[in-house]
Order: sequence, then structure tokens, then C-alpha cells
Amino acid sequence: MLNLPAYENYLSEIEQQGYCIIHSAIDEQLIADLMADCYRINPHFTLAGIGRQSNLQIDDTIRKDKTYWFDGTSQAQLTYQAIMENIKTTLNRTFFMGLFDYECHYAKYTHGDFYKKHVDAFKGRSNRVITSVFYLNTPNEGGELVIYKPKSKEIEITIKPTAGTLILFESERFVHEVLPAIDKRYSIAGWFRKNASISGIIDPPR
Ligand code: OGA
Ligand code: MN
Repeated sequence: MLNLPAYENYLSEIEQQGYCIIHSAIDEQLIADLMADCYRINPHFTLAGIGRQSNLQIDDTIRKDKTYWFDGTSQAQLTYQAIMENIKTTLNRTFFMGLFDYECHYAKYTHGDFYKKHVDAFKGRSNRVITSVFYLNTPNEGGELVIYKPKSKEIEITIKPTAGTLILFESERFVHEVLPAIDKRYSIAGWFRKNASISGIIDPPR
């Protein structure tokens, strides 16, 4: 299920630079099963929103990808979530991050789709701690992920989406963007979250 050697340095990379890139993170059969799952639910992908719950807005000047939140309707989704739970436990043990749950969605970018510069979490306003991005296919061209240096307009790294690559980064720290896709691009974006419960009300997902 997991390609363990690929995970050798990821914790020290997160510690030192706030992000890590894990190539061949998941075996090819699971990637194929997740891709098949995407094709199964293809008609149900919807334009992604910005914000949370009541102030969810559709603004296609900021992002044009289509998403589908995991709903546990396939074994592939359950297996992927189990892998992320495992990573969550390791992050908690290593960094005492207090991560509480993990939420994720498939994302589909077709020709011209993009996601402009953004952060996934705003200080004090979100409970997203670590972002994960996993690539399900390898577009020939376009759809690069650009991660900027903290508090800077300089590029830290540009990542060409490649099937099997998993990226983890600190959600509040890195502005990032997805450059316009040329070929179809399938991925899973997810967030390890801390519990932002207030007066005993557990924060609901999304
Ligand atoms: C996101 C995101 C990056 C990518 O969905 O918030 O930034 O490479 N995705 O798909
Ligand atoms: Mn993002």
C-alpha cells in the first residue's frame, strides 16, 4: 500500500522547511483505483467554492477547478483516507500537532483551469494545519504547482504534477497557486485539521 522508503526524509523536511515532496508515495494499483473512482464520479464534479459553509462563494476568477469531496463510496477512497490517518498519527507523535481529522476532495483541472495565488488557512480563522496534495496523473504540460517563499513574492519551488507524488505543507505559511492546466489534471487535495471546537461543539467538516 505504502512505498515506505519514499517516506524516509519527509518528517525532517517538514521540520526544516515546512513542506516536503514524497515521490512514489502510494503504489500504482491504488493510484489506478483512485483514477477509476474519478471516472466513476466524473459527472458529479462541481465548481469549487471559496470559503467555508455559509460564506461559500463560487468565484471562477480565483479558481476554476472542479471538485468532489470524499464520501467513502469506494474502497479506494477508504484506503487513501487510511493512509492519511496514518500520516496524521505520525505528525502528531513527532510534532505534537494535535491534528484532529483529515478532509479531502478530488480535484479536476481541464484546459485553462487554474487556482490563483492563495493560502489554505488564515491565522486564527481556520483549523487547517497541514495541506496535502496528491497527483493521480501526469499531465504533459501545464498545471504546475508554484509554492512561494513565506512572506515573499519569490518562488520557493515549482512542482510539475506527477502521478504518485504527495506534497505536504504548512497551510498557514505558504502562498501557492496552480498555473493554468493544458492537459487534464487529476489530484486529491486534503487538509489535516486541528479541532476548533467552541463550547463543546465539535467543528463540522468544511
Ligand atoms: C488547493 C491547491 C494545489 C494543487 O486545492 O487548495 O492549492 O497542486 N491545490 O492541486
Ligand atoms: Mn491550496
